[in-house]
Amino acid sequence: MKKFDSKAKPAAQVVGIDDISVYVPRLYLPLVGEFSRQRGIDPGKLLKGIGIEKMAVADAHEDAATMAANALLDLMRRSGLRPEDIDKIYVGTESAPDEAKALGTYVIGMMEQVYGKGSFHECETVEFKAACIGTTFALESLCYWAAFQDRMEDGGAEGDLEREKAGVVIASDIARYPLSSSGEYTQGAGSVALLVKRDPRLLAIEQVWGAFSRDENDFFRPMGCATAVVNGKHSNQCYLDAVQGAFDSFAARAGRRGIIRPPEGCCVTDFMDRILFHIPYPRMIEYASAAIFRHDWKRSSKRKKSRQQEAVEAEIGDEPLAEEFRDTGELQAAEADYSRRFSRSRTFLQAFEAKVKDTALLSRQVGNIYTGSIYLGLASLMEAQKLMPGERLGFAAYGSGCSALFFSATVQPRAEEVAGLGLLQRLQERREVSLADYERLHEGKAERSILKPAGEFILAGVDGQGYRHYEYIE
Ligand code: CAA
Repeated sequence: MKKFDSKAKPAAQVVGIDDISVYVPRLYLPLVGEFSRQRGIDPGKLLKGIGIEKMAVADAHEDAATMAANALLDLMRRSGLRPEDIDKIYVGTESAPDEAKALGTYVIGMMEQVYGKGSFHECETVEFKAACIGTTFALESLCYWAAFQDRMEDGGAEGDLEREKAGVVIASDIARYPLSSSGEYTQGAGSVALLVKRDPRLLAIEQVWGAFSRDENDFFRPMGCATAVVNGKHSNQCYLDAVQGAFDSFAARAGRRGIIRPPEGCCVTDFMDRILFHIPYPRMIEYASAAIFRHDWKRSSKRKKSRQQEAVEAEIGDEPLAEEFRDTGELQAAEADYSRRFSRSRTFLQAFEAKVKDTALLSRQVGNIYTGSIYLGLASLMEAQKLMPGERLGFAAYGSGCSALFFSATVQPRAEEVAGLGLLQRLQERREVSLADYERLHEGKAERSILKPAGEFILAGVDGQGYRHYEYIE
Protein backbone atom coordinates (compact mmCIF):
# COMPACT_ATOMS: atom_id res chain seq x y z
CA MET A 1 0.00 0.00 0.00
CA LYS A 2 1.56 3.32 -1.10
CA LYS A 3 1.46 6.05 1.56
CA PHE A 4 0.66 9.66 0.71
CA ASP A 5 3.82 11.78 0.54
CA SER A 6 2.99 15.49 0.43
CA LYS A 7 6.42 16.44 -0.98
CA ALA A 8 6.52 13.94 -3.80
CA LYS A 9 5.71 15.19 -7.31
CA PRO A 10 2.72 13.21 -8.58
CA ALA A 11 3.63 10.76 -11.33
CA ALA A 12 1.79 11.44 -14.59
CA GLN A 13 -0.90 8.83 -15.07
CA VAL A 14 -2.60 7.85 -18.27
CA VAL A 15 -6.32 8.24 -17.61
CA GLY A 16 -9.33 8.50 -19.84
CA ILE A 17 -12.27 6.73 -21.41
CA ASP A 18 -12.02 2.94 -21.37
CA ASP A 19 -15.42 2.10 -22.86
CA ILE A 20 -18.66 3.74 -23.94
CA SER A 21 -22.28 2.70 -24.14
CA VAL A 22 -25.16 4.54 -25.77
CA TYR A 23 -28.87 4.14 -25.08
CA VAL A 24 -31.40 5.60 -27.51
CA PRO A 25 -35.20 5.14 -27.16
CA ARG A 26 -36.75 2.71 -29.63
CA LEU A 27 -39.23 5.26 -31.00
CA TYR A 28 -38.46 7.96 -33.54
CA LEU A 29 -40.29 10.65 -35.45
CA PRO A 30 -39.20 11.25 -39.06
CA LEU A 31 -38.95 14.98 -39.64
CA VAL A 32 -39.74 14.79 -43.33
CA GLY A 33 -43.34 13.73 -43.97
CA GLU A 34 -46.22 14.27 -41.60
CA PHE A 35 -44.16 16.53 -39.32
CA SER A 36 -42.78 18.85 -42.02
CA ARG A 37 -46.19 19.04 -43.75
CA GLN A 38 -48.15 19.73 -40.61
CA ARG A 39 -45.67 22.36 -39.35
CA GLY A 40 -45.35 23.90 -42.82
CA ILE A 41 -41.57 23.52 -42.99
CA ASP A 42 -39.67 22.89 -46.21
CA PRO A 43 -37.95 19.45 -45.91
CA GLY A 44 -34.76 20.98 -47.34
CA LYS A 45 -34.55 23.24 -44.32
CA LEU A 46 -34.71 20.29 -41.91
CA LEU A 47 -32.34 18.05 -43.85
CA LYS A 48 -29.80 20.69 -44.90
CA GLY A 49 -30.43 23.88 -42.93
CA ILE A 50 -30.68 22.01 -39.59
CA GLY A 51 -29.21 18.65 -40.62
CA ILE A 52 -31.67 16.28 -38.93
CA GLU A 53 -33.63 13.38 -40.43
CA LYS A 54 -35.20 11.69 -37.40
CA MET A 55 -35.54 12.50 -33.76
CA ALA A 56 -35.57 9.96 -30.95
CA VAL A 57 -38.76 10.03 -28.86
CA ALA A 58 -38.92 8.77 -25.27
CA ASP A 59 -41.83 6.37 -24.63
CA ALA A 60 -44.24 6.83 -21.70
CA HIS A 61 -42.17 4.53 -19.45
CA GLU A 62 -38.90 6.37 -20.11
CA ASP A 63 -37.22 9.31 -18.45
CA ALA A 64 -33.66 10.54 -17.89
CA ALA A 65 -33.22 8.00 -15.05
CA THR A 66 -34.33 4.89 -16.99
CA MET A 67 -32.19 5.89 -19.96
CA ALA A 68 -29.17 6.40 -17.67
CA ALA A 69 -29.69 3.01 -16.01
CA ASN A 70 -30.11 1.28 -19.38
CA ALA A 71 -26.84 2.81 -20.62
CA LEU A 72 -25.02 1.85 -17.41
CA LEU A 73 -26.29 -1.73 -17.44
CA ASP A 74 -25.10 -2.13 -21.02
CA LEU A 75 -21.72 -0.60 -20.13
CA MET A 76 -21.29 -2.99 -17.20
CA ARG A 77 -22.19 -6.00 -19.31
CA ARG A 78 -19.93 -4.92 -22.19
CA SER A 79 -16.97 -4.29 -19.89
CA GLY A 80 -17.52 -7.16 -17.46
CA LEU A 81 -17.74 -4.66 -14.59
CA ARG A 82 -19.04 -5.69 -11.17
CA PRO A 83 -20.72 -3.20 -8.83
CA GLU A 84 -17.70 -3.27 -6.49
CA ASP A 85 -15.47 -2.11 -9.38
CA ILE A 86 -17.30 1.24 -9.58
CA ASP A 87 -16.36 3.90 -7.04
CA LYS A 88 -18.24 6.86 -8.48
CA ILE A 89 -21.18 7.47 -10.78
CA TYR A 90 -21.29 11.10 -11.88
CA VAL A 91 -24.36 12.09 -13.87
CA GLY A 92 -24.66 15.07 -16.21
CA THR A 93 -28.26 16.00 -16.91
CA GLU A 94 -30.53 18.97 -17.39
CA SER A 95 -33.73 16.95 -17.47
CA ALA A 96 -33.59 15.23 -14.08
CA PRO A 97 -37.01 14.32 -12.67
CA ASP A 98 -36.22 15.70 -9.18
CA GLU A 99 -34.99 19.12 -7.96
CA ALA A 100 -33.06 17.68 -4.98
CA LYS A 101 -32.56 13.91 -5.11
CA ALA A 102 -29.56 12.97 -7.27
CA LEU A 103 -30.59 11.12 -10.42
CA GLY A 104 -27.78 8.63 -9.76
CA THR A 105 -29.55 7.40 -6.61
CA TYR A 106 -32.50 6.30 -8.73
CA VAL A 107 -29.99 4.69 -11.10
CA ILE A 108 -28.36 2.81 -8.22
CA GLY A 109 -31.80 1.65 -7.06
CA MET A 110 -32.44 0.24 -10.51
CA MET A 111 -29.02 -1.41 -10.78
CA GLU A 112 -29.52 -3.10 -7.42
CA GLN A 113 -32.62 -4.82 -8.83
CA VAL A 114 -30.21 -6.60 -11.19
CA TYR A 115 -27.04 -6.93 -9.05
CA GLY A 116 -28.58 -7.33 -5.59
CA LYS A 117 -29.66 -5.03 -2.78
CA GLY A 118 -26.78 -3.04 -1.30
CA SER A 119 -24.39 -3.93 -4.11
CA PHE A 120 -23.69 -0.23 -4.83
CA HIS A 121 -23.73 1.02 -1.24
CA GLU A 122 -20.10 2.17 -1.35
CA CYS A 123 -20.49 3.98 -4.65
CA GLU A 124 -20.71 7.80 -4.66
CA THR A 125 -23.14 9.52 -6.96
CA VAL A 126 -23.67 13.18 -7.71
CA GLU A 127 -25.44 15.17 -10.40
CA PHE A 128 -23.67 17.84 -12.45
CA LYS A 129 -25.94 20.57 -13.76
CA ALA A 130 -24.40 22.95 -16.29
CA ALA A 131 -26.80 22.57 -19.24
CA CYS A 132 -25.16 20.58 -22.06
CA ILE A 133 -21.68 20.73 -20.57
CA GLY A 134 -22.52 19.02 -17.24
CA THR A 135 -21.20 15.65 -18.41
CA THR A 136 -17.90 17.13 -19.53
CA PHE A 137 -17.34 18.79 -16.14
CA ALA A 138 -18.13 15.37 -14.61
CA LEU A 139 -15.59 13.75 -16.92
CA GLU A 140 -12.94 16.33 -16.00
CA SER A 141 -13.54 15.64 -12.31
CA LEU A 142 -13.34 11.89 -12.71
CA CYS A 143 -10.16 12.14 -14.78
CA TYR A 144 -8.43 14.06 -11.98
CA TRP A 145 -9.75 11.54 -9.46
CA ALA A 146 -8.58 8.57 -11.55
CA ALA A 147 -5.11 10.10 -11.96
CA PHE A 148 -4.60 10.51 -8.24
CA GLN A 149 -6.64 7.63 -6.90
CA ASP A 150 -3.76 5.83 -5.20
CA ARG A 151 -2.67 9.07 -3.45
CA MET A 152 -6.12 9.40 -1.92
CA GLU A 153 -6.27 5.82 -0.62
CA ASP A 154 -7.40 5.88 2.98
CA GLY A 155 -5.53 2.86 4.25
CA GLY A 156 -7.18 -0.22 2.79
CA ALA A 157 -5.67 -3.67 2.88
CA GLU A 158 -2.38 -4.49 1.16
CA GLY A 159 -3.02 -5.26 -2.49
CA ASP A 160 -5.97 -2.87 -2.88
CA LEU A 161 -4.23 -1.16 -5.74
CA GLU A 162 -4.41 -4.27 -7.89
CA ARG A 163 -8.19 -3.94 -7.64
CA GLU A 164 -8.21 -0.36 -8.79
CA LYS A 165 -11.66 1.16 -9.06
CA ALA A 166 -13.24 2.88 -12.01
CA GLY A 167 -15.62 5.80 -12.32
CA VAL A 168 -18.59 6.15 -14.62
CA VAL A 169 -19.87 9.34 -16.20
CA ILE A 170 -23.44 9.19 -17.47
CA ALA A 171 -25.11 11.77 -19.68
CA SER A 172 -28.87 11.45 -19.84
CA ASP A 173 -31.38 13.88 -21.27
CA ILE A 174 -34.64 14.40 -23.07
CA ALA A 175 -34.41 17.59 -25.13
CA ARG A 176 -37.83 19.20 -25.14
CA TYR A 177 -39.03 22.52 -26.59
CA PRO A 178 -42.61 23.78 -27.01
CA LEU A 179 -44.62 22.15 -29.83
CA SER A 180 -44.43 24.14 -33.09
CA SER A 181 -41.53 26.25 -31.81
CA SER A 182 -38.31 26.66 -33.81
CA GLY A 183 -36.54 24.46 -31.24
CA GLU A 184 -38.94 21.55 -31.80
CA TYR A 185 -37.07 20.04 -34.73
CA THR A 186 -33.84 19.95 -32.71
CA GLN A 187 -35.25 17.70 -29.97
CA GLY A 188 -34.00 14.19 -29.16
CA ALA A 189 -33.46 11.78 -26.28
CA GLY A 190 -30.75 9.42 -25.14
CA SER A 191 -28.03 8.54 -22.73
CA VAL A 192 -24.29 7.87 -22.93
CA ALA A 193 -22.24 6.11 -20.25
CA LEU A 194 -18.44 6.44 -20.19
CA LEU A 195 -16.13 4.23 -18.18
CA VAL A 196 -13.28 6.35 -16.78
CA LYS A 197 -10.11 4.73 -15.46
CA ARG A 198 -6.35 4.55 -15.63
CA ASP A 199 -4.74 2.88 -18.66
CA PRO A 200 -7.93 3.20 -20.70
CA ARG A 201 -8.44 1.09 -23.80
CA LEU A 202 -10.15 3.80 -25.87
CA LEU A 203 -8.96 7.36 -25.24
CA ALA A 204 -6.24 8.85 -23.05
CA ILE A 205 -7.24 12.34 -22.00
CA GLU A 206 -4.30 14.76 -22.08
CA GLN A 207 -5.54 16.67 -19.02
CA VAL A 208 -5.33 20.12 -20.57
CA TRP A 209 -8.71 21.78 -20.15
CA GLY A 210 -9.30 25.13 -21.84
CA ALA A 211 -12.21 26.95 -20.22
CA PHE A 212 -14.60 29.84 -20.87
CA SER A 213 -17.61 31.08 -18.86
CA ARG A 214 -19.96 34.07 -19.13
CA ASP A 215 -23.43 34.89 -17.75
CA GLU A 216 -25.92 34.58 -20.64
CA ASN A 217 -29.69 34.19 -21.23
CA ASP A 218 -29.33 32.09 -24.38
CA PHE A 219 -31.11 28.99 -23.06
CA PHE A 220 -32.46 28.25 -19.58
CA ARG A 221 -35.33 26.47 -17.86
CA PRO A 222 -36.81 28.31 -14.88
CA MET A 223 -38.09 26.18 -11.96
CA GLY A 224 -41.32 24.40 -12.78
CA CYS A 225 -41.06 24.77 -16.57
CA ALA A 226 -41.19 21.58 -18.64
CA THR A 227 -39.53 23.15 -21.68
CA ALA A 228 -36.58 25.48 -22.07
CA VAL A 229 -36.70 29.20 -22.78
CA VAL A 230 -34.52 29.72 -25.83
CA ASN A 231 -33.20 32.78 -27.58
CA GLY A 232 -32.30 30.74 -30.64
CA LYS A 233 -30.03 32.94 -32.75
CA HIS A 234 -28.42 34.41 -29.65
CA SER A 235 -27.73 30.86 -28.40
CA ASN A 236 -25.83 30.10 -31.62
CA GLN A 237 -23.66 33.18 -31.11
CA CYS A 238 -23.04 32.39 -27.42
CA TYR A 239 -21.98 28.87 -28.44
CA LEU A 240 -19.50 30.25 -30.99
CA ASP A 241 -18.03 32.86 -28.62
CA ALA A 242 -17.67 30.36 -25.78
CA VAL A 243 -16.12 27.60 -27.88
CA GLN A 244 -13.64 30.05 -29.35
CA GLY A 245 -12.78 31.32 -25.86
CA ALA A 246 -12.22 27.77 -24.60
CA PHE A 247 -10.16 26.92 -27.69
CA ASP A 248 -7.84 29.90 -27.06
CA SER A 249 -7.55 28.91 -23.41
CA PHE A 250 -6.71 25.34 -24.46
CA ALA A 251 -4.16 26.52 -27.05
CA ALA A 252 -2.37 28.67 -24.45
CA ARG A 253 -2.40 25.95 -21.78
CA ALA A 254 -1.39 23.17 -24.19
CA GLY A 255 1.49 25.37 -25.39
CA ARG A 256 2.67 26.04 -21.83
CA ARG A 257 2.52 22.33 -21.03
CA GLY A 258 4.43 21.51 -24.21
CA ILE A 259 1.65 19.27 -25.50
CA ILE A 260 0.91 21.28 -28.65
CA ARG A 261 3.46 23.91 -29.71
CA PRO A 262 2.93 24.62 -33.39
CA PRO A 263 6.04 25.85 -35.20
CA GLU A 264 5.73 29.09 -37.21
CA GLY A 265 3.25 28.77 -40.04
CA CYS A 266 1.46 25.86 -38.37
CA CYS A 267 -1.83 25.86 -36.47
CA VAL A 268 -3.13 24.18 -33.31
CA THR A 269 -5.76 22.30 -35.33
CA ASP A 270 -2.97 20.81 -37.49
CA PHE A 271 -2.22 18.69 -34.43
CA MET A 272 -5.77 17.30 -34.26
CA ASP A 273 -7.01 14.50 -36.48
CA ARG A 274 -10.67 14.97 -35.48
CA ILE A 275 -12.58 17.69 -33.71
CA LEU A 276 -15.78 16.86 -31.85
CA PHE A 277 -18.19 19.66 -31.01
CA HIS A 278 -21.31 19.72 -28.89
CA ILE A 279 -24.08 18.92 -31.42
CA PRO A 280 -27.38 20.69 -30.65
CA TYR A 281 -28.17 20.03 -34.34
CA PRO A 282 -25.71 18.88 -37.00
CA ARG A 283 -25.60 22.18 -38.89
CA MET A 284 -24.23 23.87 -35.75
CA ILE A 285 -20.96 21.96 -36.07
CA GLU A 286 -20.50 23.48 -39.52
CA TYR A 287 -20.86 26.97 -38.05
CA ALA A 288 -18.56 26.04 -35.17
CA SER A 289 -15.83 24.46 -37.24
CA ALA A 290 -15.86 27.36 -39.70
CA ALA A 291 -15.40 29.74 -36.76
CA ILE A 292 -12.62 27.69 -35.14
CA PHE A 293 -10.67 26.89 -38.31
CA ARG A 294 -10.89 30.48 -39.55
CA HIS A 295 -9.75 31.81 -36.18
CA ASP A 296 -6.93 29.27 -35.84
CA TRP A 297 -5.62 29.60 -39.39
CA LYS A 298 -5.63 33.39 -39.18
CA ARG A 299 -4.25 33.61 -35.64
CA SER A 300 -1.39 31.22 -36.31
CA SER A 301 -0.34 33.35 -39.26
CA LYS A 302 0.77 36.44 -37.34
CA ARG A 303 4.44 35.99 -38.29
CA LYS A 304 4.30 33.45 -41.07
CA LYS A 305 1.06 32.74 -42.91
CA SER A 306 -0.29 29.26 -42.48
CA ARG A 307 -0.72 27.11 -45.57
CA GLN A 308 -4.50 27.16 -45.00
CA GLN A 309 -4.65 30.97 -44.68
CA GLU A 310 -2.80 31.34 -47.97
CA ALA A 311 -5.16 28.86 -49.65
CA VAL A 312 -8.29 30.60 -48.31
CA GLU A 313 -7.05 34.03 -49.37
CA ALA A 314 -6.27 32.70 -52.84
CA GLU A 315 -9.84 31.41 -53.03
CA ILE A 316 -11.93 34.20 -51.49
CA GLY A 317 -9.62 37.17 -50.96
CA ASP A 318 -8.34 38.89 -47.82
CA GLU A 319 -10.17 39.16 -44.50
CA PRO A 320 -12.15 42.41 -44.14
CA LEU A 321 -10.22 45.00 -42.10
CA ALA A 322 -12.05 47.41 -39.77
CA GLU A 323 -10.18 50.49 -41.09
CA GLU A 324 -11.52 49.88 -44.59
CA PHE A 325 -15.16 50.55 -43.56
CA ARG A 326 -16.97 53.78 -42.74
CA ASP A 327 -19.18 52.38 -39.97
CA THR A 328 -19.83 49.21 -37.98
CA GLY A 329 -22.87 48.37 -40.11
CA GLU A 330 -20.74 48.14 -43.25
CA LEU A 331 -18.05 46.18 -41.43
CA GLN A 332 -20.62 43.71 -40.05
CA ALA A 333 -22.10 43.17 -43.51
CA ALA A 334 -18.63 42.55 -44.99
CA GLU A 335 -17.80 40.24 -42.11
CA ALA A 336 -21.03 38.22 -42.60
CA ASP A 337 -20.34 37.98 -46.33
CA TYR A 338 -16.74 36.82 -45.74
CA SER A 339 -17.94 34.21 -43.20
CA ARG A 340 -20.43 32.85 -45.71
CA ARG A 341 -17.77 32.63 -48.43
CA PHE A 342 -15.29 31.07 -45.97
CA SER A 343 -17.79 28.35 -45.04
CA ARG A 344 -18.16 27.51 -48.76
CA SER A 345 -14.42 27.62 -49.54
CA ARG A 346 -12.73 24.44 -50.69
CA THR A 347 -10.05 24.78 -48.02
CA PHE A 348 -12.61 24.87 -45.24
CA LEU A 349 -14.81 22.14 -46.71
CA GLN A 350 -11.83 19.79 -46.99
CA ALA A 351 -10.90 20.36 -43.35
CA PHE A 352 -14.54 19.90 -42.28
CA GLU A 353 -14.89 16.64 -44.27
CA ALA A 354 -11.64 15.25 -42.92
CA LYS A 355 -11.94 16.21 -39.27
CA VAL A 356 -15.52 16.98 -38.27
CA LYS A 357 -18.29 15.74 -40.56
CA ASP A 358 -18.44 12.10 -39.44
CA THR A 359 -19.07 13.10 -35.81
CA ALA A 360 -22.70 13.93 -36.67
CA LEU A 361 -23.56 10.54 -38.16
CA LEU A 362 -25.74 9.47 -35.21
CA SER A 363 -27.06 12.92 -34.30
CA ARG A 364 -28.80 13.10 -37.68
CA GLN A 365 -30.85 10.06 -36.62
CA VAL A 366 -31.30 10.91 -32.94
CA GLY A 367 -31.41 14.69 -32.49
CA ASN A 368 -30.05 16.62 -29.55
CA ILE A 369 -29.37 14.62 -26.41
CA TYR A 370 -27.99 17.70 -24.65
CA THR A 371 -25.21 16.64 -22.23
CA GLY A 372 -24.38 13.48 -24.15
CA SER A 373 -24.40 14.83 -27.69
CA ILE A 374 -20.64 15.42 -27.93
CA TYR A 375 -20.09 11.79 -26.84
CA LEU A 376 -22.71 10.63 -29.34
CA GLY A 377 -20.22 12.25 -31.72
CA LEU A 378 -17.51 9.95 -30.36
CA ALA A 379 -19.80 6.95 -30.85
CA SER A 380 -20.41 8.19 -34.42
CA LEU A 381 -16.68 8.08 -35.15
CA MET A 382 -16.54 4.56 -33.72
CA GLU A 383 -19.51 3.48 -35.85
CA ALA A 384 -17.91 4.96 -38.94
CA GLN A 385 -14.63 3.19 -38.01
CA LYS A 386 -12.78 6.45 -38.05
CA LEU A 387 -10.62 6.10 -34.95
CA MET A 388 -7.00 5.05 -35.48
CA PRO A 389 -4.52 4.46 -32.64
CA GLY A 390 -2.28 7.47 -32.11
CA GLU A 391 -4.77 9.98 -33.50
CA ARG A 392 -5.48 13.08 -31.43
CA LEU A 393 -9.08 14.22 -30.95
CA GLY A 394 -10.07 17.73 -29.90
CA PHE A 395 -13.34 18.07 -27.95
CA ALA A 396 -15.30 21.33 -27.79
CA ALA A 397 -18.07 21.06 -25.21
CA TYR A 398 -20.66 23.80 -24.74
CA GLY A 399 -23.33 24.40 -22.13
CA SER A 400 -25.83 27.23 -22.30
CA GLY A 401 -25.82 29.81 -19.65
CA CYS A 402 -22.90 29.66 -20.65
CA SER A 403 -19.64 27.67 -20.42
CA ALA A 404 -17.32 25.84 -22.78
CA LEU A 405 -14.44 23.44 -22.28
CA PHE A 406 -11.90 22.39 -24.91
CA PHE A 407 -9.75 19.32 -24.25
CA SER A 408 -7.82 16.71 -26.18
CA ALA A 409 -7.41 12.95 -26.11
CA THR A 410 -5.41 10.37 -27.99
CA VAL A 411 -6.73 7.10 -29.40
CA GLN A 412 -5.15 4.16 -27.58
CA PRO A 413 -3.63 1.02 -29.14
CA ARG A 414 -6.42 -1.17 -27.70
CA ALA A 415 -9.26 1.02 -29.02
CA GLU A 416 -10.33 -1.74 -31.37
CA GLU A 417 -11.30 -3.88 -28.37
CA VAL A 418 -14.21 -1.54 -27.65
CA ALA A 419 -15.37 -1.02 -31.23
CA GLY A 420 -18.62 -2.54 -32.42
CA LEU A 421 -21.35 -0.62 -30.61
CA GLY A 422 -23.85 -1.76 -33.27
CA LEU A 423 -25.71 1.52 -32.98
CA LEU A 424 -26.54 2.07 -36.64
CA GLN A 425 -28.18 -1.35 -36.70
CA ARG A 426 -30.12 -0.58 -33.50
CA LEU A 427 -31.32 2.73 -34.91
CA GLN A 428 -32.63 0.96 -37.99
CA GLU A 429 -34.71 -1.35 -35.82
CA ARG A 430 -36.58 1.50 -34.12
CA ARG A 431 -40.31 1.99 -34.56
CA GLU A 432 -41.69 5.09 -36.27
CA VAL A 433 -44.21 7.02 -34.19
CA SER A 434 -47.10 9.04 -35.61
CA LEU A 435 -47.24 12.80 -35.14
CA ALA A 436 -50.31 12.43 -32.89
CA ASP A 437 -48.59 9.86 -30.64
CA TYR A 438 -45.44 11.96 -30.49
CA GLU A 439 -47.46 15.01 -29.44
CA ARG A 440 -49.26 13.02 -26.72
CA LEU A 441 -45.91 11.77 -25.38
CA HIS A 442 -44.44 15.26 -25.58
CA GLU A 443 -47.29 16.76 -23.55
CA GLY A 444 -47.22 13.91 -20.97
CA LYS A 445 -50.71 12.81 -22.02
CA ALA A 446 -49.92 9.26 -23.23
CA GLU A 447 -51.79 6.84 -20.99
CA ARG A 448 -49.70 3.81 -21.88
CA SER A 449 -46.43 2.95 -23.56
CA ILE A 450 -46.38 2.60 -27.32
CA LEU A 451 -43.88 -0.27 -27.22
CA LYS A 452 -44.04 -3.17 -24.78
CA PRO A 453 -40.90 -2.85 -22.61
CA ALA A 454 -38.45 -5.76 -22.73
CA GLY A 455 -34.96 -6.16 -21.27
CA GLU A 456 -34.93 -2.61 -19.88
CA PHE A 457 -35.64 -0.42 -16.89
CA ILE A 458 -38.98 1.37 -16.86
CA LEU A 459 -40.73 4.01 -14.85
CA ALA A 460 -43.47 1.96 -13.17
CA GLY A 461 -45.22 4.85 -11.45
CA VAL A 462 -44.99 7.98 -9.32
CA ASP A 463 -46.50 7.79 -5.83
CA GLY A 464 -48.53 10.41 -3.99
CA GLN A 465 -45.37 12.04 -2.57
CA GLY A 466 -43.74 12.31 -5.98
CA TYR A 467 -41.23 9.48 -5.40
CA ARG A 468 -40.61 7.54 -8.57
CA HIS A 469 -40.76 3.75 -8.77
CA TYR A 470 -38.69 1.92 -11.34
CA GLU A 471 -38.61 -1.73 -12.41
CA TYR A 472 -36.44 -3.96 -14.52
CA ILE A 473 -38.53 -5.80 -17.13
CA GLU A 474 -37.00 -9.03 -18.45
N1 CAA B 1 -33.32 24.53 -47.61
C1 CAA B 1 -32.08 24.52 -47.08
N2 CAA B 1 -31.73 25.35 -46.04
C2 CAA B 1 -32.68 26.17 -45.53
C3 CAA B 1 -34.00 26.20 -46.05
C4 CAA B 1 -34.30 25.33 -47.14
N3 CAA B 1 -35.52 25.30 -47.69
N4 CAA B 1 -34.69 27.10 -45.35
C5 CAA B 1 -33.86 27.61 -44.41
N5 CAA B 1 -32.64 27.05 -44.53
C6 CAA B 1 -31.44 27.28 -43.72
C7 CAA B 1 -31.28 28.75 -43.35
O1 CAA B 1 -30.77 29.52 -44.44
C8 CAA B 1 -30.29 28.64 -42.20
O2 CAA B 1 -28.98 28.40 -42.70
P1 CAA B 1 -27.86 29.59 -42.71
O3 CAA B 1 -27.53 29.85 -41.26
O4 CAA B 1 -26.73 29.03 -43.47
O5 CAA B 1 -28.50 30.78 -43.36
C9 CAA B 1 -30.73 27.32 -41.52
O6 CAA B 1 -31.59 26.66 -42.44
C10 CAA B 1 -31.47 27.56 -40.21
O7 CAA B 1 -32.65 28.23 -40.48
P2 CAA B 1 -33.08 29.54 -39.67
O8 CAA B 1 -31.98 30.54 -39.71
O9 CAA B 1 -34.41 29.95 -40.17
O10 CAA B 1 -33.17 29.06 -38.17
P3 CAA B 1 -34.43 28.58 -37.29
O11 CAA B 1 -35.41 29.66 -37.10
O12 CAA B 1 -34.93 27.27 -37.80
O13 CAA B 1 -33.74 28.34 -35.88
C11 CAA B 1 -32.34 27.39 -34.24
C12 CAA B 1 -32.63 27.48 -35.72
C13 CAA B 1 -32.00 28.80 -33.71
C14 CAA B 1 -31.16 26.50 -34.04
C15 CAA B 1 -33.59 26.83 -33.51
O14 CAA B 1 -33.85 25.53 -33.99
C16 CAA B 1 -33.43 26.75 -32.01
O15 CAA B 1 -33.70 27.70 -31.31
N6 CAA B 1 -32.96 25.57 -31.47
C17 CAA B 1 -32.77 25.36 -30.05
C18 CAA B 1 -31.57 26.09 -29.50
C19 CAA B 1 -30.27 25.56 -30.02
O16 CAA B 1 -30.14 24.41 -30.39
N7 CAA B 1 -29.24 26.41 -30.02
C20 CAA B 1 -27.92 26.00 -30.41
C21 CAA B 1 -26.85 26.66 -29.57
S1 CAA B 1 -27.22 26.46 -27.82
C22 CAA B 1 -26.68 24.89 -27.47
O17 CAA B 1 -25.95 24.32 -28.21
C23 CAA B 1 -27.19 24.24 -26.23
C24 CAA B 1 -28.22 23.26 -26.58
O18 CAA B 1 -27.94 22.09 -26.82
C25 CAA B 1 -29.59 23.71 -26.64
